[in-house]
Parts: sequence; structure tokens; C-alpha cells
Amino acid sequence: MTNQNTTTLSKIETLLAEMTLREKIGQMCQLPGVGHLTNDLVGKIRASELGSILNEVNPEVINELQRIAVEESRLGIPLVIGRDVIHGFKTVLPIPIGQAATWNEELIEKGARMSAEEASSVGVHWTFAPMIDITRDPRWGRIAESLGEDPYLTAKLGVAMVKGFQGKNLTDKTSIAACAKHFAAYGYSEAGKDYAYVNISENELRNVVLPPFKACAEAGVATFMAAFSDLNGVPATGNEFLNQQILRREWNYKGMLVSDWDSVVQLNTHGFSEGGKEAAMEAVRAGVDMEMASTTYISYLESLVTEGKITLEQIDQCVYNILSLKEKLGLFENPYVNPAEFEPCGSAKNLEIAKNTAVESCVLLKNDYHVLPLSPEKNKRIAVIGPMANDKYEQMGTWTFDGVEEWCVTPLEALKKEFEGKSEVFYAKGLSHSRSYDKSLFEEAIALAASCDTVISFMGEESILSGEAHCRADINLPGAQNDLLKEIAKLGKTTILVVMAGRPLILEETRHQVNALLYAWHPGTMGGPAIADILVGKENPSGKLPFSFPKMVGQIPVYYNQRNSGRPTTYDNFIHMNDIPVKAPQTSTGNTCFHMDAGFEPLYHFGFGLSYTSFRYQNIWLEKHKFKMNEPLWVHAEVRNEGSRGGYEVVQLYIRDQFANITRPVRELKGFKKVFFEPNETKVVSFELTEKELGFYNRNNAWMVEPGDFDVWIGGSSKAHLHTHFLLLPNE
Ligand code: GLC
Repeated sequence: MTNQNTTTLSKIETLLAEMTLREKIGQMCQLPGVGHLTNDLVGKIRASELGSILNEVNPEVINELQRIAVEESRLGIPLVIGRDVIHGFKTVLPIPIGQAATWNEELIEKGARMSAEEASSVGVHWTFAPMIDITRDPRWGRIAESLGEDPYLTAKLGVAMVKGFQGKNLTDKTSIAACAKHFAAYGYSEAGKDYAYVNISENELRNVVLPPFKACAEAGVATFMAAFSDLNGVPATGNEFLNQQILRREWNYKGMLVSDWDSVVQLNTHGFSEGGKEAAMEAVRAGVDMEMASTTYISYLESLVTEGKITLEQIDQCVYNILSLKEKLGLFENPYVNPAEFEPCGSAKNLEIAKNTAVESCVLLKNDYHVLPLSPEKNKRIAVIGPMANDKYEQMGTWTFDGVEEWCVTPLEALKKEFEGKSEVFYAKGLSHSRSYDKSLFEEAIALAASCDTVISFMGEESILSGEAHCRADINLPGAQNDLLKEIAKLGKTTILVVMAGRPLILEETRHQVNALLYAWHPGTMGGPAIADILVGKENPSGKLPFSFPKMVGQIPVYYNQRNSGRPTTYDNFIHMNDIPVKAPQTSTGNTCFHMDAGFEPLYHFGFGLSYTSFRYQNIWLEKHKFKMNEPLWVHAEVRNEGSRGGYEVVQLYIRDQFANITRPVRELKGFKKVFFEPNETKVVSFELTEKELGFYNRNNAWMVEPGDFDVWIGGSSKAHLHTHFLLLPNE
């Protein structure tokens, strides 16, 4: 048994010593709530055969279930209540990939804090968030819940969410336990299909997938969740290497590990175990403390212990981790919730946080002729068109079981309010919903557009087109949305497109139809006012892409921190397929790493985002160019706001380890700072590089910091051009 402190040890040890084997196994079981008491749940709780409930959010029901646990079970151990509080609770924040576009740790922590305050007010103790799966495949529906393609950014923002959810002390009534999920490599699901096979090297696992989880573990995340994935043939939920060797022995993680929904019994479906009993054995051996939704633990663990296939010590360790979580949450002392003691959900403060997050999540991808921001003087008649312009439900996005639709303010509502008394705002939906091919509403929409100066189209994906089990092979705008945009483009009006979607979409064709393009993801409750404030210039867009946008699906995976290959492509050795002469001889085109019909770069690259002002990166320097690893190593850049309005810039630092024990990415994000600049203001932005940033897992999967030459770039995206270099010397 491992302990954390004497007081906790003695209390939990004492309780463990009193518990029967069946009572211990009962703590390892979690079942879904149904919004009311059931004989089954009440009976299991009374018999000490249930330790946790998820998806119950009625405080009266939670308190009654809790009362039964505390007063009517033999040892009175309280329940822990879990819920997916992924991006807000009743007040809905932008989907996590949209939050990632803010590159704002402080704001994301605030959003998670607000979410915890709202969720804890109904009796939720534990959220199954942050989801910190790295993925490079926008076909995967759960990219919506991710924090993007990069391990450094995902780690920083994932930790911010953990801090927000868990607050200063888990016993605080507004703190809820966070959950680092899905451990691990779920985002590498084959072909971007959910739940698909994951084939990944240990080295890629350690250098790309695991850093965010390690960062959250070091930040004190209270729980982890095992992934559904079949990880190299050993499903994560039964993977001792992952959950025991890495999580427990290498990282010395002391928190609680819960399975994903039915992922224990799915070990049979994978063909990894044969029957529930073997599945339970594999999961416990792999260190899964609590079984979510399925019931193999309560059904088979007693006999597995009797048969000596599972030891009592293994059971005790699982139960110790569960009781420790309940102890940290203060549930033994305060098992009940009194909603009257909490701030109301949906308060002005909370809506403000949701709006500010939505503002900073929007990424301006195109703004030809500076058509944005819109002024009432030049835009007297405005046509608002599209299926996403006025849909409260769809703008909340996926994983919003508790979102209050009525609280949402749509872009149409916000624009009408913004232009009231200044310009006329008209609306035509154009399509009944984002997947529709029915063009019967086109005529009205096109006629309206023809009668106005400016057209603002709101297109994208309904929320159901992303999220768990909602993957798409064709990630263009669905339905006839592109056709509608083409018809509108023929009118020669000022055209603006706002995309509201749960993933990066293919915009190669779409972007040519409009003068300006703003990516709003699914922006949540206050998406309308946030978008309106940006469109009229009350807010200066500062969002930066947390994900590379492919030109076409065939490019996937396309990401910035790729390896160089032995034959990298540059613009001087790339020839487009359409430019190759007929009958060209075999060796006449470049023998390098690209697609002839797509090139070698994404449409929009990682870290990219425009502003209404412009920032010049005019100088970069180091104190010297040779460093020993134990010496402070700072990189500085001088950045100037050249424009006439203030704005935030996400100043990004990238490195390249030129020659190493294994090949290293051509660029790696190793620092970012979101800095406000007044008009014409110049600032020096500095970054420290330490072993943490320069090290990697080598060809033997051992951590190393290797002397050698490094490139450094600082800029406003992963294409940063301001460059310097340094030589890392051995530490002798
Ligand atoms: C789901 C998801 C997981 C979620 C859990 C509880 O299947 O994979 O992310 O937290 O079940 O809803």
C-alpha cells in the first residue's frame, strides 16, 4: 500500500481493515444515474456494492442517494458523483479545440473554474475532463474535445483546466476532481474513425502522446481515465505497461484510474480477454481502480481473489486510491450539497467568461481588402444567411448535456442588436440545416443577398457531426453550403463567412467564395455576441490555430511538427500535378516528399491567425550562442504592433534539434506568450529554454538532453521566420 500522509493513511487504512472483500469491490463500481431513485441503485448502495454514480445531476436525487450510502450502508462510505463537464456546465464555453485557439492559459483556467462552480452546485464532485488526446486527424469526431495537434500546447492548456476544475483545494465545495483522459493515444485512432485500432511506436507515445498526461499528473490531476483504444494489440484498459509501468512506476502517480464506459467488458470485444471474468482480471492487473458502467468487477472479483488470480493487495490498492479521492474531496465530512450555498448558474459573471473565451477562440483566417471590421456607414443593409446563424442548440457544440439552450445568444440576435438604429439586418436561412441538399430556400437567400451591401454567411456543422462516435470521411462543409456560397459570390457583394464547426474543415474551395473568413468553432452560450463584437471591431481577433487545416482530406495527417524525411520538399523543388508537361519523363519531377495535387503544406498552418492590426517581429537574440545545459538559456525577441489599434499577439517560440539520437521534428513549439500591444508599441518578449524543453526520449526510449546545434524561431505562427541558433555543450 502506498500512502500520501499519516492522517489520510490511518483513516483510510482503518476503514480498509474494517471492509469485507465485497464491500471493497463495491467501491470499485460506478453506474449511471437516471435522474431518479431506482430500486436497483438503492439496493446496491445499501448493500455497499456501489462506490460511484455518473450522470446524475439532480441535487435532490444525489442527496438522497448519498443519504442512503452514508446512513443505510454498513460503513457509511459516501458516493463520488461524476459527470462530463467538458466545456462548461449550464453556461457553455466554446468546445475545447476552440478554447485551445485562445492560447490563453489564464482564461481557460477561469472557464474551468466557472464550470466547476456551476457543476458542484448541483452535487457533481468529479468531471471527466480535460481530454488531452493528441490527434492529427480532423476526421475524428473527438477532435472537438481536444486541445489540438501539439503536445506542448495541449500540456499547458490541459494543466490550466486541471487547475480551474480542482481549484486551490479539492475539499473546497466548488472544487471538482479533474480527469486526464483518455489514457492513452486514443487520438491516433486509425483513419480518424472512433474506437479504431491504434498502431504507435513507444517512442512516438513517449515524445508526443504522453507529455500532456505527464504534465497533468505533475500538476496534481486527481484521476485518469483509461482509453477504449486497442493500443498496439493490448487495449489501454488492460495495458499493464501503460497503466502500471509508466503511470505508476515511472511517474509515481497516486491518483485514481477509472475505465471508460464499458471499456472493461470491451476487452472481450477486442478479443483480448474471453468473458467478463478474464476482462475483470486483466483490468485490475492493469491497475484500473474503478469500472465505469459495466459490472464485471462486482460479478467476478471475489472469485478471482479466491482463485488467487487477483491478490487482496491489488484490490486494496484500487480501493485505497478510490477512498483517497473521496477523502481529498472531503466527502466523508461533507457528503451533501446545498445548492442555496452556491452562486446561481448562468450569472452575468459566468456569461462574461463564456463570451470572453468565445471572443479569443475565434480565428481570423482571411480578411481581404480589410473588409472587416464592418462599419455601419459602409454597411447600411446587411444580409445574414446560413443554417448556423440563428441556432441556439447547434452553437453549443458536442458534450453539452447540461447546457441551457435558452441562455444562448445567436449571431443573428447579436448582430440585430449591434446594428439597431444604424443599419438594417435581414435574415434568410438558405438551408434548413447544415447537412441539407434541399435548395428550395436558395432563391429567397440569394434575392436577399442581392438587395444588400454586405452578406455575412454562417455555415458549418451541426453539433451532432462531431464529438464521440461522430467521424466524417469527407470534411468539407456538409450539404449544399458550398453551393449556396458560390451563388452568393456571383453577386459581387462584400462577403464574410463565419464557420461554426466541431473540427477543422476543408476550406480550399470555400475560402475563394468570400472576402473574409472567421473560424468560430462551436462557440457556446455567448457565441453570438462574441462573433458580433469581432465583426464590428469592438474586439480585435487574437485566436491562433491549434491545428493545421488540410487543403484536402488526402493530405491527412498534415501537421507542423513533422520529421524532415530524407527528401524534404521546398517551393523550389515542388511542381504541381497540373504543371507537369504531358509525356514528361519519369525523373523530371522532384523526387521529394509531397502530393502532386496538394503540395506539402496545409492550407492554414498551426499557430496561424490574423488580427485587425499587424505585428512585426524585428529582432531576436541570445546573450551568447554556446550554453552548458545547467546555464540559464534565454531567447528574446523584439515585437512591434505596426497598426493603429491595440491587440493581443500570441508570440510563439519554436526550436529544432538539428542532429540527434533520433530524428527530431523540423519545428517544435516550446514557448508561447499572449501579449497585449498598444498601437505602435514595441515590446521585448523573452523565453527560457531548459532541459524540459530541449530533451526527448531517444532510440532506447530513455529521456535525454543531447548536446548539439539548435535552431530557434520566434513569430506569430509555426512559420515564424525570425531565426537564431545556439550550441548546447556537454555539461562536463
Ligand atoms: C464516454 C467517453 C468518455 C466519457 C465517458 C462518460 O464514452 O469516451 O470520454 O467521459 O463515456 O460519459
